[in-house]
Amino acid sequence: MSESQTPESRWFTYDIVAEDPTTHARAGVLHTPHGDIPTPIFMPVGTKATVKGILPSQLERLGAKIILANTYHLANRPGEDLVAEMGGLHEFMRWRGPILTDSGGFQVFSHGEFTRLTNDGVEFRTVDYDGQHVFWTPEKNMEIAQKLGADIVMQLDQCPGYPSPRPFVERAVELSSMWAERCFRAHTRTDQALFGIVQGGMDLDLRLRSLRHLEECGDFPGYGIGGYSVGEDHETMFESLAPLASEYMPKGKPRYLMGVGNPTTLVHGVECGIDMFDCVLPTRTARMGSAFSSEGRLNFRNARFTHDHGPIDPDCTCPVCTGGYTRAYIHHLVKQKEMVGSILLSLHNVYYLLELMRRARQAIVEHRYGQFVSEWDQLPAAKDW
Ligand code: GUN
Ligand code: ZN
Repeated sequence: MSESQTPESRWFTYDIVAEDPTTHARAGVLHTPHGDIPTPIFMPVGTKATVKGILPSQLERLGAKIILANTYHLANRPGEDLVAEMGGLHEFMRWRGPILTDSGGFQVFSHGEFTRLTNDGVEFRTVDYDGQHVFWTPEKNMEIAQKLGADIVMQLDQCPGYPSPRPFVERAVELSSMWAERCFRAHTRTDQALFGIVQGGMDLDLRLRSLRHLEECGDFPGYGIGGYSVGEDHETMFESLAPLASEYMPKGKPRYLMGVGNPTTLVHGVECGIDMFDCVLPTRTARMGSAFSSEGRLNFRNARFTHDHGPIDPDCTCPVCTGGYTRAYIHHLVKQKEMVGSILLSLHNVYYLLELMRRARQAIVEHRYGQFVSEWDQLPAAKDW
């Protein structure tokens, strides 16, 4: 770092440190006020200011570099003013590293009950909480996000489901573009980055329209790609995602594929130039009693594990698999619905995705990511996800 470069001047700059010669994969570093984020990266989700079942100290030990939280949920409970009063999200939840908050646009449209959609914003009922009617404008959303105090915040957007009629997707692009511009103007914290979100369903032309609007609106330090993993199959997803990411997204900015966490999609996402991912899949799968493994998905309710002395995954170097916990023990805990069963599986599953991205990054740095993808596709695990 030269003398004129203070740490602050590097915040939210993105350094690409390696590019794979045969794919579009790249390895980078995103600088934030709470630390540097190596990419590609998986971000564990802590919707309500906790990654379910895992302490921040354990997340650090697993190698997590950034976690997510959700504006929709935190605005409902405990409320952004309470979080701000407690010193902001990092202090409140005792996580020292970077945090990204999603706008909650996705929650409003997926499990909220939205009642009215106008150019100005969205009215919805907080069905998961007290059923209150709330009206969110982009400005209100930014006010909440700034009070929560994450390092990276996402614009308010509209995520159409799949399949949706083209005019509906066009309208979602139009609204998300207008809201991007208003979020951009309303966002003033210099220790926080605002990312725009590309929408447009499965149509590349609508995706490009959305991207162009965002680029016209201002110089976002990074871009989310929303509206995928909404019920489409793998091929349908990559038909538009691959060209979007590999040919059209700006090279020097981080690209974040939102809400995607199945291992095969991560491997192929990185191949077309995605840098960041998040998903509840590892922790949710764990609470259902299942584990990611090199053999594919393992369901620990299955009686075949009753007498199994082995670890969850013999190839895994997580604290659970190297700590002597047997498949038989996990099977027992899951059958008895013991909390520690979910916790051990959550630790393993989160580690699995963090490690997958660490290995992907190493392969990119060593210019062998193409080979990494072919090897992955031949694993039994690849077909399970
Ligand atoms: N999480 C997963 N998909 C989306 C999306 O399209 N928008 C937002 N804001 N969050 C998401
Ligand atoms: Zn493990």
